[in-house]
Amino acid sequence: MRIRHHVNPLKLEFLVPRTPQVPIPPGKEVELELGCADAQFLFQRAAQDPGRVELGVEIREDLVRDVNRRARALGLNVKAIFANANVDLRFLLEPGTIARIFVNFPDPWFKRRHRKRRVIDRDLIVACHEALRPRGEFFFQSDVWDLALDAMSVIEAQEERLENLAGPWSFWKEPNPYGARSLREELNEQEGKQIWRMLFRKRDEADEAIEGRARGIRAP
Ligand SMILES: C[S@@+](CC[C@H](N)C(=O)[O-])C[C@H]1O[C@@H](n2cnc3c(N)ncnc32)[C@H](O)[C@@H]1O
Repeated sequence: MRIRHHVNPLKLEFLVPRTPQVPIPPGKEVELELGCADAQFLFQRAAQDPGRVELGVEIREDLVRDVNRRARALGLNVKAIFANANVDLRFLLEPGTIARIFVNFPDPWFKRRHRKRRVIDRDLIVACHEALRPRGEFFFQSDVWDLALDAMSVIEAQEERLENLAGPWSFWKEPNPYGARSLREELNEQEGKQIWRMLFRKRDEADEAIEGRARGIRAP
């Protein structure tokens, strides 16, 4: 089967939100990877804890079909959703429900004119913050320095929403803490490439502070 290498997320068909809200089973821990591709990372997470629900958002429909077929065959709690993370995320999930969000090796879109196609932007971070449960985690990793730096500046600008667990403007120095490897991560590690990681946590007081600021009230 032919699988496309890239899909332009700014094509009109991907700019119209169309994916219905994903039901979140009560009492289950739910994790989400944006741009999951073959979902290797999610399958490994699901194998660690079969009680958890692993969701992946992916813009290439053929990959979504493959992942869901494999999940059924293996009996693992992994579900891929065909959607554009940048357009659909805020409609996809009930607010405050996701324990962890992972962005593993998003497409680099190196050229300057492609900058606006990058996955990490302010609206995506606001949507992730809304989807996360209190103290939920947001993890990012990339082997592309420019992209990682760009993502850091976007996320640090939202520091009232997400706290950088390595300290402000710092990359996560430890290895990946989740005991699972995405395919890109595995290949990069095999090649000995440097990987830039960041780990953030939703601030407890975030909703209150943001709401207060909107009403012109400053936190003490
Ligand atoms: C470089 S691959 C990395 C895949 C996987 N996370 C890994 O680390 O092996 C990036 C994936 O993100 C998907 N993607 C890019 N932009 C997206 C968007 N706006 N919404 C959903 N998926 C997207 C691409 O189709 C691709 O499968």
